[in-house]
Amino acid sequence: MPYSNGFDRLWLPFTYDSDMRDYPPRIVERGSGLYVYDNTGRRIMDAVGSWWVSSFGHCHPRIVAAVREQAGRLDHVLMAGFVSEPTMRLTAHLADLLPAELTRIFYSDDGSTAVEAALKIALQYHALRGSKRSAFVGLGSGYHGDTLGAMSVSSIPAYHTLFHERFRKHHAVDSPYCYRCPAGKEAATCEAECMDSLAKLFDECGETMAGCIFEPLLQGAAGMRVYPPKVLRRIFALCESYGVLTIADEVATGFGRTGRMFACDHIGQVPDIMCLAKGLTGGFAPMGITAVKERIYGEFRGIPGSGRILYHGHSFTGNPIAAAAACATMELLKEHRIPESLEKVTAHFRAGLEGFRDHEAVGDIRSIGLIGAIELVKDRKTKEPFPPALRVGFSVAQAALANGLLVRPLGDVVYFFPAFVITESEIDEMFGILHRSIEEVFHVTPHI
Ligand SMILES: Cc1ncc(COP(=O)(O)O)c(C=O)c1O
Repeated sequence: MPYSNGFDRLWLPFTYDSDMRDYPPRIVERGSGLYVYDNTGRRIMDAVGSWWVSSFGHCHPRIVAAVREQAGRLDHVLMAGFVSEPTMRLTAHLADLLPAELTRIFYSDDGSTAVEAALKIALQYHALRGSKRSAFVGLGSGYHGDTLGAMSVSSIPAYHTLFHERFRKHHAVDSPYCYRCPAGKEAATCEAECMDSLAKLFDECGETMAGCIFEPLLQGAAGMRVYPPKVLRRIFALCESYGVLTIADEVATGFGRTGRMFACDHIGQVPDIMCLAKGLTGGFAPMGITAVKERIYGEFRGIPGSGRILYHGHSFTGNPIAAAAACATMELLKEHRIPESLEKVTAHFRAGLEGFRDHEAVGDIRSIGLIGAIELVKDRKTKEPFPPALRVGFSVAQAALANGLLVRPLGDVVYFFPAFVITESEIDEMFGILHRSIEEVFHVTPHI
């Protein structure tokens, strides 16, 4: 069936209508490992794991087999009064992988709903304790998803300002954006001063705070801003002093991405609530998790009429096919000893990134685990950004695509979030294509 008029009907996320016309989306027919193939047979290397979900590459045979087998056995069963077998298996896997203190696992549909559930759990937890704590604080430029609750605790101006004005705004403190440190510090002298803003807020109104939500060590959508463990340590310490629940949004950082199983492991801290999604199913199906400490679940232990019940759930909660994909993914994580086994490939990845350091338009290079980013700027000395109208990042992405590489910059930050199966030679190929694409853009647009 021809799809010519399909383009008149589609509404793509984060896409201008004019781009939809001028750069119509490629129709992708299949995927294998690091690559997807469009309907002209073109091979495209997926350098961003298709929005950070494809942890073991596209169509990993082990996950394909698990999904196939499950689809022939049970499609779905509601998750109240019933639970599917793969969901039980997955829960056992997670009990192995998660920090022991996170004793209860609540399933939902994706990263946004994992955050929604976390916010509701935090609010109701306090209410059940007779506390009126109801405010949330997040980090400046934080991103926690696109549903209204998740947006109300997020702070990327272009995405959220309108909705904050019309819906609900939370408190936002400084972003730990080391390249443009809000406290004017350098790495060598940093004492996590960016979090003075959190200390000040807690001094003023800490007793009203239900929870502090943060992306540990990496603010992803803000532009892959990697920040130091001491900042995360200070967030935990401040929350503890003021009795504020810690909500670690590990939707992007979880399951080995940062070089530890969870980013919070880098500082040996366990949050009160952890949100997970993305790599959980290896990129096969949407699924989210909100894991909580026993003391939180304890407030929800109730009998009918007590109000101690979480009125939250989605039709597809705990979907067996997604759970089967997640079980296979968890098995792969364990068998391949992720993240320990990634050390060598990660070192190669980091060295490759450094190869961009001398380019006149590269202002900053940052990485953590198998995530790396290059921030392009107009002036390296002053860190002046390019005028947004030039769409430098977008142009680089278009050039890269023409050269067979899928990147999806965040503004002028070009980043890499490849599947764990990437090899050293594929890393060289990936960076080689990006080098070439940057050169092409700067060559054909000399005023850049
Ligand atoms: C840290 C973080 N939290 C939540 C989300 C939302 O996840 P989803 O897109 O699966 O709803 C994202 C998505 O990028 C994210 O990076």
